[in-house]
Amino acid sequence: MNDLDDPALIQETDPSDFLGSVERLPDQVRDAHERARRVEGLPPADGIDSIAVLGMGGSGISGDVLQVALGPRSPLFVATLRGYELPDWVDRNTLVFAMSYSGNTEETLETFEKALERNIPIVAVTTGGALSQRAKQHGLAVVEIPAGLQPRAALGYLAVPLLVVCERIGAGPPAGEAVSETIDLLQGRADEYHRKSPLESNPAKELAQRLLGKIPVVYGSEGLAEVAAYRWKCQFNEVAKVPAWSNSFPELNHNEIVGWERLGKVTRAHAALLVLRDEGEHPRIAKRIDITLPLIQGSVSLVHQVRGRGASALARLFDLVYFGDFVSTYLAIAQGVDPAPVEVIESLKRALGDV
Ligand code: PA5
Repeated sequence: MNDLDDPALIQETDPSDFLGSVERLPDQVRDAHERARRVEGLPPADGIDSIAVLGMGGSGISGDVLQVALGPRSPLFVATLRGYELPDWVDRNTLVFAMSYSGNTEETLETFEKALERNIPIVAVTTGGALSQRAKQHGLAVVEIPAGLQPRAALGYLAVPLLVVCERIGAGPPAGEAVSETIDLLQGRADEYHRKSPLESNPAKELAQRLLGKIPVVYGSEGLAEVAAYRWKCQFNEVAKVPAWSNSFPELNHNEIVGWERLGKVTRAHAALLVLRDEGEHPRIAKRIDITLPLIQGSVSLVHQVRGRGASALARLFDLVYFGDFVSTYLAIAQGVDPAPVEVIESLKRALGDV
């Protein structure tokens, strides 16, 4: 096991400084906000009643962030489309965001082409690739974001422009206040979780260490914390290279909870339950969690709850997400695993002829 307080070991395990890109997320959110405010040629919002966000993996989750930031009171129907199909409800009253960090993801390019055929208002967010090229050919607005990061370390660049574009075209509320709050909050957390902050006072290093050798199961309450739980799961997979699962309350009360009844010996040895909470969660969900955890805790090796801070939904979501980004990065480093490469995804894309 690697010592998480040894800077030389961190550097050796993480040669491309993935951890540094996590530490700099507050600057990224600031820069993303500025870039999106400068983009020209945005489509008008007249008649828009829905938003479809096209994207996969680290790019697609930006749609979930948008949905959380707009909140359950938004009159707009918002969906993230992760696949090859563009459903018929996506029509000229839909605003489409085509999201791909590389600009070359097959599924996203296919749905983007279908949206082009339907003459739908589209905004692309990308570093370049075929998406940027095709969007520019068609005179579409493109939010250009810097290359050189892993998509899952670029959530600020991928998510914040959606809020800014919605605000600018009059399809969403003002984003500035929530973005400023998010930057300030993330800055404080970046210091708290920074590599220079020693293990005994660094909750991210501490939790990573407790998760060594475990399979994380991440639960979140409906909405904001559910999105964060899915992000944690994906970061455990891609950054720490471990299996992980996520689910949400109240849905898991209607199925998954029964699955903890058997195989207790196996799950007690391997599963670690992480529960992400949000102060805005429905009071009945709070009650459900209070009742559920004692039922499960004998079947897992540890239960750890995390609560997001912040006034706006955006800040609270990023707060939860940011802790998970650090925990998964430290878990990778503690295991002696480079957090950056995702060789199996790249080789799959090569085999499909995507890259
Ligand atoms: O984190 C990753 O590398 C992946 O989840 C990618 O985001 C995913 O494969 C889609 O690629 P892109 O973000 O370049 O469209």
